[in-house]
Amino acid sequence: MEKNTKKTFYITTPIYYVNDVPHIGHAYTTIIADTLARFQKLAGKDVFFMTGTDEHGQKIEKAAAERGLTPKALADSVVGRAQDLWRSLDISHDFFIRTTMDFHEKGVQKLFQMLVDKGDIYKGEYKGWYCVSDENFLPDDVPLEAEGCKTCPDCGKKAYGVSEETYFFRLSAYQDKLLTLYAEHPEFVRPQSRLNEVTSFVRGGLKDLSITRTTVKWGVPVPGDPKHTIYVWFDALHNYVTGIGYDWNPELFKKFWPADIHLVGKDILRFHAVYWPAFLMAEGFPLPRTVYGHGWWLKDDTKMSKSKGNVLDPQAILKVFGPDPLRYFLLREIPIGQDGNFSHEGFLHRVNSDLANDLGNLVQRTLTMIRNYFDGGIIDPEEETAADLKVRTDFEDLKTRVFDHYDACALNKALEEIWAYIGQVNKYLAANEPWIMAKDPARRPRLARVLLQAAAAIRGISYLVFPVMPGSAEKIWGFLGEGKKPSEVPYEEIEFDGFGPGRKVGMPQALFPRVALKDFLGEEAAAPETPPAPRPEPTKEGKEAMDIITYDEFKRMDLRVAHILAAERLPGATKILKLQVDIGTEKRQMVAGIAETYTPEELVGKKLIVIVNLKPAVIRGIESQAMLLAAITPDNKALIPFFDRDIAAGAVVK
Ligand code: MSP
Repeated sequence: MEKNTKKTFYITTPIYYVNDVPHIGHAYTTIIADTLARFQKLAGKDVFFMTGTDEHGQKIEKAAAERGLTPKALADSVVGRAQDLWRSLDISHDFFIRTTMDFHEKGVQKLFQMLVDKGDIYKGEYKGWYCVSDENFLPDDVPLEAEGCKTCPDCGKKAYGVSEETYFFRLSAYQDKLLTLYAEHPEFVRPQSRLNEVTSFVRGGLKDLSITRTTVKWGVPVPGDPKHTIYVWFDALHNYVTGIGYDWNPELFKKFWPADIHLVGKDILRFHAVYWPAFLMAEGFPLPRTVYGHGWWLKDDTKMSKSKGNVLDPQAILKVFGPDPLRYFLLREIPIGQDGNFSHEGFLHRVNSDLANDLGNLVQRTLTMIRNYFDGGIIDPEEETAADLKVRTDFEDLKTRVFDHYDACALNKALEEIWAYIGQVNKYLAANEPWIMAKDPARRPRLARVLLQAAAAIRGISYLVFPVMPGSAEKIWGFLGEGKKPSEVPYEEIEFDGFGPGRKVGMPQALFPRVALKDFLGEEAAAPETPPAPRPEPTKEGKEAMDIITYDEFKRMDLRVAHILAAERLPGATKILKLQVDIGTEKRQMVAGIAETYTPEELVGKKLIVIVNLKPAVIRGIESQAMLLAAITPDNKALIPFFDRDIAAGAVVK
C-alpha cells in the first residue's frame, strides 16, 4: 500500500445515536481512533480527531417519545453521559460534533441545495420498506412475509411500508465512478475482505437513494420545501466535513480535509464506502483516504447491541480498573477487522497476567531494586555484555516494527510484539538474579548494568504502549524520574539510552489492580478457584487422637529444605502459585496457596521447608509433588518460615 506522506492526519469515529449511552461496542471504535490519533501525533503529524453524536431522525424521535421527552432533551442528556464516558476512557478528541449544531445544519442544507442545483437531487415518489432501528431502506429483494410485512435483514427487526413524495439522490450515476475508485485506490476500503464485499455490492447495481422524508419531523428541513426533512444518513455523514470547518472555517477545512481514516463498524460500511464517496464526488470534494470497517464485540456469540439487551456498560469496568486495562484488552484481544467475544474471565486473565504480572511486576521490582540498592541513582555500570547489548538492540528493532504496526492499524500485533519484549526483559532479570548480586559488593558494577538495562527497557516499553495506555505510560515515566511526558517526545527521538546513570527514580505505585473474578462478578457468578481443603472441626475423641502422635509417626514425614528455582502465577488464579523447587536429590514442581502473601519474584532463590513424601495432589490440572509448611495468619494468609542463615537444599528437617 502506498505510504501516507501527508503532514496532517484527520481521523473520525461514526457519530453515535443518542437513543442511549454508548456501550463497549461504541467504546471500542472510539478507543481505536484515540490510539491511532495518539500514535500519529507521536509520529509527528498534525492530528485532528473528531467524534460526536447523530441526533436527528426517526430512531431518536421514537426513543424520545417513549421516554416522554423532546428529542433535543433526550439528546442533551445522553450527550453529557457520552462525554463523561469518553473522559473516563481518556479519549483525546479535538472536537465533539453534534448534528443539532447550527453550523452543521446550515452546511447540510447548503450542500443539499448545491446538489439540487446540479441536478444530482431530484423530486419523485418513494415506495418501499424502512427499518427505523438501522435508519435504512430495505433492498427490494427482501421477501414479503405471510402477514404482509418485511423484516430488516441486518438487525432482524420489523420494517414498515413507506409511500411518499421524496427527493432522490442520483446514486445510480456514480456506480462506475465508485468501481473505478475501488480499483485504483484499494486502500479506500480496509481490510481487503471488506473491499471485496463493497465492490460486489456496487457491481450488483445501484438505485437512486431516497434522501428526504415527509413523515419524519425531527430532522434538518429541506431548503425551500420544509415539509420534507433530510434523511438522517445524508445529514449525519456530512458531519465529517462540517465538523472540520466546511462553510465556517475554510482554513481548518483546507488543512485537514480529506479525512485519512473514517473508522466505522462493519454494519455501517455501506453508508461510508458507497453513499458517502458518491455524495462527495457529486459535491466536488476530494475523497477520504480510507474507510476502515472494524469487527464487532459479541456477547455469547451475538452482536452486542442495546436493542438485544446484551450490552456491557464500560463504566462498571472503568470504576474498578480505570481506562487502561479496558483499552488494552479490547485492542490486544482481536485484530481490528475481526469479531471478538467479550468475556469477563478473558478480560481478568489479560489484566492479571499481561498487565499486573508481566508489565506491573517488571516495573515494580526493577524500581524497588534501584531504590534499595542505588538510592542516589545507578552509578558506574560495567560495560555491556552480549546479553545486555541484546536488550538494547532488540528494543531498537522492536521500535521500528511497532511503528509499522501502528501505522498499518495492526494494533494487536504492536501489543503482541511489545509483550514479547516485556517477557524477554523479565527473563533477562531472572537470569541475572540482581537480588543475589546485591549481596556481593564486588558485583556492584554488574548489578548497576543489569538494573540500568532493565530501567531503560521499561522507559522504552512505556513509550511504545503510550498510544494504547496513555495514563499508565505517563505514570511509569513519572516513577522513572523523567521530566517529560511520552507525548512530548517524537517517535523518531525515542532512544534506549533515554534512561542513563545517575537518574533518581521515584517510589513505584501499583499500576494495575489485581482483582479476583468473584470480586468482579460477585460470588455466585464466579466459579470457585481451587477450593480450600476442608478442615474438619475435630471431635473430642479425634482431637485427643490428633494431639498425641508417636515420634515414629512423626518420623514418617520426609521434611526437607527446598530451594525455590522458579515461581509463577497461573492464568486466572489469584491465590495459588506454581513453584519449581530443588529438594537436594531432585527437582519437584508444586502448587501452593501463597499468592496473596508473596509475589513470584520475591520467592525465587529462597529456601523453605517442604514435605516430600506426601501423596501428590492435582490442583488446577497441575500435579503438586510436594507441600510447603506455612503458618496461617488470622485472616487466612499463608506465612512461610524462612531460614535466618543459608542452608543447603535437601537438608533434613526433624
Ligand atoms: N449514527 C450512526 C452512525 C453515523 S456516522 C455518520 C450509527 N450509530 S450507532 O450508535 O449505532 O453506532 C455505530 C457504531 O458503533 C458502529 O458502526 C460501530 O462502530 C459501533 N458499534 C456498535 N455496536 C458494536 C459492537 N457490538 N461491537 C463493535 N462496534 C459496534 O450507526
